[in-house]
Amino acid sequence: MIASQWPTGEQAKPLSTTSEQAGARRPKTLPSFSLENKVCLVTGAARGLGNEFCRAFIESGCTSLVILDLKDSDAKEAAEELKNAYEGSGEVEKDSLNILALACDVSSEASVEAAFKDVIAKFGQVDAVVASAGIVENYPALEYPADRIKRLYDINVHGAFYTAREAAKHMIPRGSGSIVLVSSMSATVVNIPQPQAPYNASKAAVRHLASSLAVEWAQKGVRVNSLSPGYMLTKLTRTILAGDQELKRKWEELTPMGKMGDPEDLKGAIVYLTSDASKFMTGAELRVDGGYCAI
Ligand SMILES: NC(=O)c1ccc[n+]([C@@H]2O[C@H](COP(=O)([O-])OP(=O)(O)OC[C@H]3O[C@@H](n4cnc5c(N)ncnc54)[C@H](O)[C@@H]3O)[C@@H](O)[C@H]2O)c1
Repeated sequence: MIASQWPTGEQAKPLSTTSEQAGARRPKTLPSFSLENKVCLVTGAARGLGNEFCRAFIESGCTSLVILDLKDSDAKEAAEELKNAYEGSGEVEKDSLNILALACDVSSEASVEAAFKDVIAKFGQVDAVVASAGIVENYPALEYPADRIKRLYDINVHGAFYTAREAAKHMIPRGSGSIVLVSSMSATVVNIPQPQAPYNASKAAVRHLASSLAVEWAQKGVRVNSLSPGYMLTKLTRTILAGDQELKRKWEELTPMGKMGDPEDLKGAIVYLTSDASKFMTGAELRVDGGYCAI
């Protein structure tokens, strides 16, 4: 018989994950999930899913973080909020978080290049990069203005490409790095009832971009995966749902788990993809959608 490694009988209480009981500042987890000593960068990080990814990184030990977003003031405000939330609560040591907050328009190659230049000047390296900046718009295809379609592709597809390429330029010489492109379940399904053909196609492009770059860089130590969320409650979806509770009910009804996701529900997935926990995974899509694509 193999002896159980878990406590039994009277002592069989759940193993504690609180800092006091574990005798450490951080909750216990598999060491490979740690982002300690890694420089993590997120685009579109001032709010929404991108901001949640930053929180997941800090909670996993990252102390060198880069927040990129369209407006400098939004990025800096988000950085301040994160410092106050984590250092203020004592969850991480005071003055231990080193957050670089910069304006960056991912649809501009020059803007992305300039941002990475500043990142390398400050931190000397970048280990985990998440391309989360993205937009969605709902127009029937017959009425979709051409300039808006181009703008959407510039942000969602070209933005993801510029971000990944700039990251890889710095990761390849060091032979290591993990890049995550935020796609969507819309890469697989056609959302109903709202019309958003170009968005769906842009997310399918992002997913395939991740696989294609993954193969190109597989032997250079750089991994690229995509993360495809289902309906999550963020500013982006709140804008679509504004005043339309019927649409929210419809989305929930179509999701096997019967609800929209909380951005928090993606924390485990992003830490898995960016950390060494997934070190043999590249070119893959991780879907977190309450079962939407399963039916
Ligand atoms: N919320 C969802 O239900 C959902 C589902 C699937 C996929 N996604 C994807 O997740 C990503 C994040 O979505 P979200 O819900 O957090 O959106 P959000 O609108 O709440 O946040 C997006 C962030 O990106 C920034 N941004 C927009 N254009 C930019 C640009 N050109 N350069 C830099 N930053 C820019 C915005 O300022 C904002 O801070 C998007 O790529 C979206 O397509 C979201």
